[in-house]
Amino acid sequence: MAITLNNGIKMPTIGLGVWRMEGKSIKEVILNAIRIGYRHFDCAAKYQNEAEVGEALAEAIQTGIVKREDLFITTKLWNSDHGHVLEACEDSLKKLHLEYLDLYLVHFPIASKFTGIGKTSSVKDENGDLDIDTTISLETTWHAMEGLVSMGLVRSIGVRLAEKHNKTVAQIILRWGIQRNIIVIPKSSKLERLKENFHVFDFELTLKDMVSIRTVDQRLRSNQPGTGWGIDVYA
Ligand SMILES: NC(=O)c1ccc[n+]([C@@H]2O[C@H](COP(=O)([O-])OP(=O)(O)OC[C@H]3O[C@@H](n4cnc5c(N)ncnc54)[C@H](OP(=O)(O)O)[C@@H]3O)[C@@H](O)[C@H]2O)c1
Repeated sequence: MAITLNNGIKMPTIGLGVWRMEGKSIKEVILNAIRIGYRHFDCAAKYQNEAEVGEALAEAIQTGIVKREDLFITTKLWNSDHGHVLEACEDSLKKLHLEYLDLYLVHFPIASKFTGIGKTSSVKDENGDLDIDTTISLETTWHAMEGLVSMGLVRSIGVRLAEKHNKTVAQIILRWGIQRNIIVIPKSSKLERLKENFHVFDFELTLKDMVSIRTVDQRLRSNQPGTGWGIDVYA
């Protein structure tokens, strides 16, 4: 299943998030995911594993498990690279062994002090807060992102709107008039869970299930793995 973006590009509704995947096992996880049927991978420079993901993608394409045009690869521009959009994108492409990205997102709409391409480390000011680079507007970053589309390095671009706005998903959807196309990108490094998560459409929740799920709501929010959320808006 896929949704169609404004520019006509199809985005598979189920993807594999690669945040917190570490080490040599990444290659096997990605290859297994492709064998199971995953075609959409959600990466980011900040996750510091683009090179390992890229190794797997290259092997999958070279050995004919999948064609490049059947994959949908997302990665993200980190805060410290807002002033170096082209170089950051080229660095991600090189690590991912790709000639173009299907989607390039501004990871957060905040520019912080430059720390070197691909480094994605954060500089803190004397108060321990993120050292914001006030010389780069989001508009400047966005124009540079549009430039990547013109150059053919990126097919679609987008920006993450949630979390920092301290609003609910519903409020953000209404405020920005966002189309309600839902994409899920669960992360798992375990083969059985990769399969289980991919086959999410082969069951339906009963009313009893829904009532049970409601009782789980603790009215709490945290930024721990497995509990976060965000809305990515694509152009
Ligand atoms: N959370 C955020 O703030 C955030 C922000 C930006 C982007 N993302 C993207 O979204 C992706 C997913 O986010 P996430 O890692 O926060 O949350 P998640 O996918 O909801 O949770 C991942 C955790 O759930 C476990 N898990 C996965 N499938 C399972 C299953 N079928 N049964 C039981 N446990 C299962 C995984 O363990 P095992 O690996 O051991 O299976 C892992 O510990 C990220 O990889 C990233 O690409 C997330």
